[in-house]
Amino acid sequence: MIEKKITTTFYQTDFSSLNSEEKDLVNRAKNSLEAAYAPYSGFLVGATVLLENGEIISGNNQENVAYPSGLCAERVAIFYAGANFPNVKIKTIAITAVSKKFEIKDIISPCGACRQAIAEYEVKQENDIRILLHHPDDSILIVNAVSDLLPFMFKSKELKNY
Ligand code: THU
Repeated sequence: MIEKKITTTFYQTDFSSLNSEEKDLVNRAKNSLEAAYAPYSGFLVGATVLLENGEIISGNNQENVAYPSGLCAERVAIFYAGANFPNVKIKTIAITAVSKKFEIKDIISPCGACRQAIAEYEVKQENDIRILLHHPDDSILIVNAVSDLLPFMFKSKELKNY
């Protein structure tokens, strides 16, 4: 038996150290929190997607009384991008969150389903997607590809007969 390891890389920084383009994305994700519809969890998430053509799309979580029928902010934003700009690559996604019920201690990182959804576009476009995770205290965690958040991911390109 051979032991193999996968390493992931992430960068810790803060809002003031970002360049102006990335500050803008984080600010838009923060503004997008206002339109989050989260009456059940009280947990508001905003996600802003920057496309290669400069187009910027924001999304936020949309909940439903039938809980599984809601959708996370990240997927609202990237599915809108995929639906309206199907041939334009996604460069960056900025994500932030606030809770009306508790203090967020750790940085919020996308759920497994959102990682898988982002991974789909990363494989499709054959370019990495940079992900900026913003904490309410303005600390930032950055990964340069979703594979750093989802090692050993399920990849459609390996399923040639699909
Ligand atoms: N949520 C997101 O929008 N993104 C994530 O990556 C994790 C969770 C939303 C779903 C639900 O509306 C609320 O946060 C609480 O789980």
